[in-house]
Amino acid sequence: MNNQTRLPRAAITGLGVYLPSKILTNQELAKIVDTSDDWIVQRTGIRERRIAAPEETTLSMAIEASKQALASARLGADQLDLVICATLIPEHTFPSTACLTQDAIGATKAGAFDLEAACAGFVYALSVARAYIVSGMAKNILVIGSETMSRVIDWQDRSTCVLFGDGAGAAVIQAAQEGDTAMGEIESVVLMSDGAKACHLMIPAGGSKMPASEQTVRDRQHFIKMNGPEVFKGAVRGMADAFHQVLKSTNLQLEDVDLMVAHQANARIIEGVRSRLDLPTSKVYQNLQRYGNTSGASIPIALYDAVREDVLKEGMRVAVAGFGGGFAWGAAVIKWGKVTV
Ligand code: UT7
Repeated sequence: MNNQTRLPRAAITGLGVYLPSKILTNQELAKIVDTSDDWIVQRTGIRERRIAAPEETTLSMAIEASKQALASARLGADQLDLVICATLIPEHTFPSTACLTQDAIGATKAGAFDLEAACAGFVYALSVARAYIVSGMAKNILVIGSETMSRVIDWQDRSTCVLFGDGAGAAVIQAAQEGDTAMGEIESVVLMSDGAKACHLMIPAGGSKMPASEQTVRDRQHFIKMNGPEVFKGAVRGMADAFHQVLKSTNLQLEDVDLMVAHQANARIIEGVRSRLDLPTSKVYQNLQRYGNTSGASIPIALYDAVREDVLKEGMRVAVAGFGGGFAWGAAVIKWGKVTV
């Protein structure tokens, strides 16, 4: 037996989501900005998105998704060693949304921190969770992606406001028992970044460089600014490359992948990635038509829906990829285990 076989495996054992009940359709958006259902569907594939009610926040959604994920894994919150919340719009600048979630769900023995990798946050958090488990530092980890995008969208900017939606997804990651193949495994994760492209997707104000002031508010600098075509190109190239790299790292071929779940930003981006990889469309999962781009929540929400719809089943191998501001991106291959939602 070599050392490799003795390392603990990390598996996804539970999933949960929270989606606000308010639906905003393309037709309703066309009453707010100069756009149309046709344009949005043709250019993005999005038909509607969820919008948080005033009392719904990144924290409240994270709590609900977390409770559901723990129930799905049949794990008590007091068994958690770590809570990681991937978000670009946290409850507060500090304390972390992860700490507030830790308290609310009763994860009394867990460390907690937020992770900021924008729309790639969930994949980044998966890599951290996997590393903690494989190294033996933790056994039970809760990874959350929760985003209240509607609070940082410029509702006067038609090039961004049609794209995003609110929601949260959570996954329980556990050390797999020796010989328990039903638990599946996060087989590999790769992460990449290119800070030279940071200017193409950002919220300029509210940090140390441009603290909040009357001027920053007047200049609408607290909203998302995006160079759409640059992000589009980066996302297609980045996610396709990340898929190749993650498969290479596990000595797997594309034929070994049963399902691809790319960040749910734009149907044309997903199609670009699919065609670069030359994957059949039947192996591509997409639910952005219902929710728009929920940033760091998009992958766990998509995994949840794919399981619920019986598209993702035990024994399959799913490849996921995220891409977002930073630019930061990455991919993971997951041998899917028994996950009940
Ligand atoms: O998670 C990562 C975050 N973001 C993304 O992944 C988004 C990446 N980018 C995209 O998805 C696309 O670039 C967009 C959907 C944002 C834009 O699509 P595009 O095909 O790149 O359009 P464009 O920016 O080149 O704009 C084409 C035209 C422009 O009009 P002119 O200059 O040709 O007259 C825009 O003003 O479409 C216009 N336009 C719109 N028209 C109607 C832009 N937004 C809209 C809109 N409705 N909502």
